[in-house]
Amino acid sequence: MQAIVVKGAPAEPLLVWEEAADIGYGSEEALVAVQATAVNRADLSQARGHYPPPPGASKILGLEMAGVIVALGDAVVDWRIGDRVCALLPGGGYAEYAAAPQGMLLRLPEAWSFAMGAAVPEVWYTAFVNLFLEGNLQPGETVLIHAGASGVGTAAIQLARAAGATVFVTAGAEEKLARCRTLGAALAVNYKKQDFLEAVLAATDGAGVDLILDPVGGAYLDRNVRALRPFGRLVNIGLLGGGPGEMNVALLLRKRLRIVGSTLRNRPLAEKIAITRQFRERFWPLLVAGELQPVIDRVFPIIEAQAAHAYVLQNRNVGKVILAVA
Ligand SMILES: NC(=O)c1ccc[n+]([C@@H]2O[C@H](COP(=O)([O-])OP(=O)(O)OC[C@H]3O[C@@H](n4cnc5c(N)ncnc54)[C@H](OP(=O)(O)O)[C@@H]3O)[C@@H](O)[C@H]2O)c1
Repeated sequence: MQAIVVKGAPAEPLLVWEEAADIGYGSEEALVAVQATAVNRADLSQARGHYPPPPGASKILGLEMAGVIVALGDAVVDWRIGDRVCALLPGGGYAEYAAAPQGMLLRLPEAWSFAMGAAVPEVWYTAFVNLFLEGNLQPGETVLIHAGASGVGTAAIQLARAAGATVFVTAGAEEKLARCRTLGAALAVNYKKQDFLEAVLAATDGAGVDLILDPVGGAYLDRNVRALRPFGRLVNIGLLGGGPGEMNVALLLRKRLRIVGSTLRNRPLAEKIAITRQFRERFWPLLVAGELQPVIDRVFPIIEAQAAHAYVLQNRNVGKVILAVA
């Protein structure tokens, strides 16, 4: 099969669409002819040698895909050859074919493009897991979502609104802030022009927010802790602003805060299947009905994966950057 092969020096990886080893599939897996996959920040790190796939996962880039089932393992029930599906993957999406366990598959609505399917698994599951399972977001609470216009952010805004929460976001460009407001953000702060802590405290009469979803990391730690109200939760999901950070532990005690770190990719398969099931039950119907929508910025042909990575690295996207495989 054809797949993206990473060449060149780690500092400047070259993504080349060329012949790669064919893949097999297990008795509980479907083999899918990939029609679309999507770019994630993890792919940029993996291409630079920083984020190796978990043991046993494909070494090919790509954490999600949408396509058509072309073969089934003996133990697969409920799925048929020809079904249009999408799935979260631990790797292997940037390829003509990918294998996915039956419990990880979502059935694409007829009206959906493959690009829409490929825009869902990684960022919608990440937003779902960290807002609700890790962050315990409740109706009536207020959540601050950093990088609000990112793939994860655009999903998180919609999920939090659907759950009856008030959403604050930060982003670094006016057009991004406008998109976040359209998606449902009540407060959108340009962190390059205004201190987000001041903005959050001003908007809450000094009280702060209940939950923060943070992909920035160390650089925001101190202000995040100060922006939380008593019993607040900080869920760290990324290191865009680096790992090391400082904070006043006294605030942690006094406000009885919780700080959680979370990744999706390294979780055991059984956990990911449970996440897929919970998401399918609670929020997938809202996506199918069009009440929530995957946000797609651009679609690049897979042979232009290199340009797609550069586009994401330059922070130019609002929502997802898709790679069309067929
Ligand atoms: N833990 C997990 O399970 C998990 C899963 C998926 C993704 N993630 C993480 O979640 C984050 C978002 O992923 P994504 O694919 O949705 O990203 P994305 O669409 O590529 O968007 C990331 C955005 O973050 C902002 N940003 C970049 N560097 C920043 C910095 N130093 N400080 C503040 N903002 C910065 C930029 O927007 P502005 O123009 O607004 O600055 C950029 O466009 C990434 O860190 C990713 O690694 C974690």
